[in-house]
Amino acid sequence: MKKKLRNFFLFSFCFTFFYLSLLKGLNAIEADLGENLFKHSCAGCHMNGGNIIRRSKNLKISSLKRNGIDNPETIAKIARQGIGIMSGYKDELGENGDEIVANWVWEQAQNAWFQE
Ligand code: HEC
Repeated sequence: MKKKLRNFFLFSFCFTFFYLSLLKGLNAIEADLGENLFKHSCAGCHMNGGNIIRRSKNLKISSLKRNGIDNPETIAKIARQGIGIMSGYKDELGENGDEIVANWVWEQAQNAWFQE
């Protein structure tokens, strides 16, 4: 009985460890994907989170908040459909690309677009 219990804990431990590493790996892959999508579709105008056309409408947290953009879903919608004079990039981003790039943008904004 004791042995079974020990095996159970050992198994749970390994499984949790494996699961967490997998999640971490997936997150890293998604972050890379987000960065690539951004470079490809957004950086032309939003280099380093700025905005070369309308400077006040940049991707820094203060600007996003001022314009009522306070979650990645709203950014995904803008990426897909555009906003004001910015057109949408639905076709370029592909399936789920809007969400992936939006999550990446949101994370960069939280981190003040500081690149390691
Ligand atoms: C051709 C230039 C251009 C490209 C490429 C572009 N944008 Fe924009 N973006 C703009 C302009 C211009 C605005 C301001 C629009 C307005 O309010 O009239 C803007 C506004 C935004 C805003 C609102 C910012 C704020 O503070 O109000 C977000 C979010 C945004 N863009 C995200 C993206 C994402 C994500 C991509 C890539 C999928 C992207 N943009 C690609 C030009 C561009």
